[in-house]
Amino acid sequence: MPLIAVAYKKKTVKPEASSQAWRAMKREALKTVTAAPLIPPHPTLRTLRETAATCKACDLWKTGTQTVFGEGSQHASVMFVGEQPGDREDLAGRPFVGPAGKLLDQALAQVGIDRRNVYVTNVVKHFKWVPDERGKRRIHKKPRYSEINACRPWLDAELAVVKPQILVCLGATAAQALLRKEFSVSRRRGELVESELAPYVMATVHPSSILRATDHESRRQQMESFVADLRKVAHLLQKPGKAA
Ligand code: URA
Repeated sequence: MPLIAVAYKKKTVKPEASSQAWRAMKREALKTVTAAPLIPPHPTLRTLRETAATCKACDLWKTGTQTVFGEGSQHASVMFVGEQPGDREDLAGRPFVGPAGKLLDQALAQVGIDRRNVYVTNVVKHFKWVPDERGKRRIHKKPRYSEINACRPWLDAELAVVKPQILVCLGATAAQALLRKEFSVSRRRGELVESELAPYVMATVHPSSILRATDHESRRQQMESFVADLRKVAHLLQKPGKAA
């Protein structure tokens, strides 16, 4: 049964779809259906991953191949958060293993950040896609607020377990979900922003935006800026007693 139907089933009057009452009910329904009840007591990355494997807090489990949970050491100093797994990640069951992940690896290598010191994850843990016109390829579709909200407890639990010194939001979906709705990555990329989520928090572009560059020169420039942002992360990691 759709969420909204569940919400108004308890009421005697069905509100008009455009009315304020409908909107309030919708907000209520979206707020309440999340993965929160699934979070195990005293979670570890292993128990979180095992439990998230059967998550049905939103409908994306129906079309995704599997839950793609975060990956990396519990002792990682840096956590990178992307939007959602892509086609390759969905099939492999691991985050950032496709073209965007390869580009991230390349940038990390350029600034000397060891992958073992990094935890990578996404705000949404299932691949959201639509078929292309010929029905041959799966095209990425941006997750809705309700899907991000439903999945959020998994990310909060990852943050609580890993306790990264540095949190890096990759792209607008992650930045707007974790920082604030109006956050502009293009204006504030590479800046340290105030947040309770970690001692150091920064947003930068999503590596897939670099892959979408239309010519060699703009791709080179975008990669250079991305590497410059990650270099700031590398410097923070070298601060004694801070993020080592
Ligand atoms: N894009 C993301 O945001 N996350 C992945 O894991 C892969 C691509």
